[in-house]
Amino acid sequence: MKECLLTVAENTAIARDVYRMTLRGDVSGVTRPGQFVNLKLDGFFLRRPISVFDREGDTLKLIYKAVGQGTGAMTGLREGDSLSVLTGLGNGYRLEPAGDAPLLLGGGVGVPPLYWLARQLRAQGKRVTAVLGFNTGADMFGEVDFQALGCETVVTTADGSYGRKGFVTDALPEAYSYFYTCGPEPMLRAVFARTVTEGQFSFEERMGCGFGACMGCSRKTVTGYKRICREGPVLEKGEILWEA
Ligand SMILES: Cc1cc2nc3c(=O)[nH]c(=O)nc-3n(C[C@H](O)[C@H](O)[C@H](O)COP(=O)(O)OP(=O)(O)OC[C@H]3O[C@@H](n4cnc5c(N)ncnc54)[C@H](O)[C@@H]3O)c2cc1C
Ligand code: FES
Repeated sequence: MKECLLTVAENTAIARDVYRMTLRGDVSGVTRPGQFVNLKLDGFFLRRPISVFDREGDTLKLIYKAVGQGTGAMTGLREGDSLSVLTGLGNGYRLEPAGDAPLLLGGGVGVPPLYWLARQLRAQGKRVTAVLGFNTGADMFGEVDFQALGCETVVTTADGSYGRKGFVTDALPEAYSYFYTCGPEPMLRAVFARTVTEGQFSFEERMGCGFGACMGCSRKTVTGYKRICREGPVLEKGEILWEA
């Protein structure tokens, strides 16, 4: 974990209430796709965790949805503003088990952590399928980004206003070697039930400290409690326990 002062280079709306923020500075603490950063916002005691969408050189890209006061305040940040950011948090996805045709399943703001992963898998020559799910067309983002990487990209919307009507689990391909997923818990439970291979799940649990000190994000697994901010946010399919 590294605390850095990063400069806002861009903060642009890309869908309904969804923004892309580009930050510049020392982002060397971010080493793996699926990791997250924790942003200190003026007037807020707790930092806000946001997944890494992409990292290249001294540039970090985030995609966030304005859902409350903290993320609402983020929308007011302008080019040139400085932000205290804890970087390199969480374990991130492991690329090793991907096989030759990995499947990526993202729902809403669970899509962002899959992009840098897709870019790395494509750089290894994998045939990547990305299924991106949203409630409605106005919420949709990321399709062109995944297509530009050369991923077979499918968009689903629950109301059928864009792409295929239904949920990501209604658009599973016939064959895939492994899967990676992130999204709201009901979607993750459906992915767990419907997938036929091993895979990795990223959880976006509510957090307190964000770096392992408060236990506020603990989740029961088959091998005991794990702190989602520290031993997660990525868990292997085989270690997940769903509580009623
Ligand atoms: C590891 C991790 C990665 C994340 N990555 C992203 C990302 O890439 N993009 C993104 O937009 N968001 C992401 N989130 C969620 C983001 O952190 C929350 O939306 C944000 O903290 C809400 O802050 P707020 O002050 O705006 O909302 P609050 O005022 O705190 O809450 C507003 C509403 O959002 C709900 N909410 C708050 N936090 C969460 C959460 N963690 N999960 C589900 N609902 C929540 C609350 O229940 C409430 O209904 C991530 C969360 C975690 C833990
Ligand atoms: S949020 Fe404090 S231990 Fe995870």
